[in-house]
Amino acid sequence: MKKRKTNPKEFDNIVKEVFAPIYPVIAQQIVDKTQIKSGKCLDAGCGTGALGRAFAKITQMDILFYDQSEQMLELSQKYTQQEELEKRSSFIMGDIHDIVCDSQSIDLVISRGSFGFWEDWQKAYEEIYRILKIGASAYIGGGFGNKKLHEQIINTMKNKNPNWNHPKFENLETKKKQLPQIMKNLNPKEFEIIDDESGFWVYFTK
Ligand SMILES: C[S@@+](CC[C@H](N)C(=O)[O-])C[C@H]1O[C@@H](n2cnc3c(N)ncnc32)[C@H](O)[C@@H]1O
Repeated sequence: MKKRKTNPKEFDNIVKEVFAPIYPVIAQQIVDKTQIKSGKCLDAGCGTGALGRAFAKITQMDILFYDQSEQMLELSQKYTQQEELEKRSSFIMGDIHDIVCDSQSIDLVISRGSFGFWEDWQKAYEEIYRILKIGASAYIGGGFGNKKLHEQIINTMKNKNPNWNHPKFENLETKKKQLPQIMKNLNPKEFEIIDDESGFWVYFTK
């Protein structure tokens, strides 16, 4: 399987036209689970920043939009300005496997739809764990919020292109199976793997 990359322009259109309703739902699920509403939140592999922006709207958090793609960060910045969130937003370009942030500096890491691209989950989760403050949490994974939204999105994508299939990532199923061991190696205060109609997520607290 070829190494996958997201095309920023195409992805931006899909987010605006199709995925848009999922982000407020996921943001609320994260608040409900973590109960974290203030401090610094890092949106890892933020893309156009849709999850971080939805999260900013229901919390007081400062959002650090983090992505390896300059074009994605430019789109994130454009939308935070349009949505008047720029005072609580900052942008860092970097790789998740070597996060450009101080250790124990972040209150919450959120991430949606990026982990499939991460080559080395052990290293990526170690990095996320390193930047979390003691007592801070992470909520990372992929999904469309709930069953209804998932079905709605699959139908819309198939109407646009009958050959459309949900992207397949190299070794994703193997990586998911390794996640409990990766968590045990990190030894967080608590962790939970959520695999239900909301998608596949890992929640952990340092
Ligand atoms: C499918 S997009 C998801 C974007 C956004 N989180 C959302 O749900 O709308 C995946 C994003 O992850 C980013 N990404 C992939 N691998 C990464 C890595 N190793 N470090 C940082 N960002 C990465 C890509 O550049 C892309 O913007």
